Amino acid sequence: MDIESIRKEALDNLKQIKNKEDLDLFKKDYLGKKGKIREFFSSIKDLPIEEKKTLGQKINQLASEIEEIFLLKEKNFNKEEKEEIDLTLPAKPTELGSLHPITQVKREMERIFQLMGFSVVEGPEIEDEWYNFDALNIPEGHPARDALSLGKTFYLKGGNLLRTQTSSAQVRYIEKMKPPIRIIVPGKVYRYEKTDASHETNFFHLEGLLVDENVSVANLKAVLKKFLEEFFKREVDIRLRPSYFPFTEPSFEVDMLCTVCDGKGCSACKRTGWVEILGSGIVHPNVIKNGGLDPKKYKGFAFGLSIDRPTMMNYKINDIRLFHSGNLNFLKQF
Ligand code: DAH
Repeated sequence: MDIESIRKEALDNLKQIKNKEDLDLFKKDYLGKKGKIREFFSSIKDLPIEEKKTLGQKINQLASEIEEIFLLKEKNFNKEEKEEIDLTLPAKPTELGSLHPITQVKREMERIFQLMGFSVVEGPEIEDEWYNFDALNIPEGHPARDALSLGKTFYLKGGNLLRTQTSSAQVRYIEKMKPPIRIIVPGKVYRYEKTDASHETNFFHLEGLLVDENVSVANLKAVLKKFLEEFFKREVDIRLRPSYFPFTEPSFEVDMLCTVCDGKGCSACKRTGWVEILGSGIVHPNVIKNGGLDPKKYKGFAFGLSIDRPTMMNYKINDIRLFHSGNLNFLKQF
């Protein structure tokens, strides 16, 4: 037999193989110790050396060719065997992820403000000094930069910074929109903090801004009270305490009657009966002006609240650092 006919015969045989036994038989017939390839080698052993060499090489080539196809076929058989599907087996359980608790709370807050006619918008996390500070009536050297922890700024190359407050979006939208403006800006803010159970270098704020004619503190109070009642799903008492923010005048710290002790005083409210919940005020005329509007005609109120803190209150989370820990045991609870 010559090489060509052995090749042809072998390939034909391989094609017809239907089961494991055929496959084993083929292996024995061609590649085994007494197989056709070996037989061929023995048949040329008495030929002159040169002839033996060239023929030998050809037989070797043929042997690897057949072996290669054989192995491929064998692999496919094994795979088929393994992949046999048992339709009676129950399906593998799919692991469902869940939304991060901050996302859940953020969405709930957005839902409530949307019901009151506010649009949810975004501002850039990489800001410049103008929108983060100057436009908000906080010029360089202003003591409020430090007093409000706004001095703990991460500066970037090229004069930009990571926003320290979502208030930085205020003037961007006053410029862009026509009153009445009703927006909330939820998002990440960054501060160079020493981290502990209640301090993180990045956390979430939600900014609110309303600009229109005839805006009053009563409007602000009503919107905030309604929001808190929807959010905590209960009646809520709030009080406005005089405070100071450069971008609002007058400015208020808003406290909520402690929901744990109903104002009697407990450890959650540090025995005061009240829990500080957000900062707010009537938009400073300079801010309205910096947005290109006439402060004689337009007024506004603004507020800013942490998303992290109410999330911690809601779910009784005692360490803010858990939020960015990536700890699945923590995250799987939500
Ligand atoms: N940006 C302030 C902060 O980071 C929060 C704030 C206070 C926002 C008063 C406001 C406001 O819009 O009117 O602490």
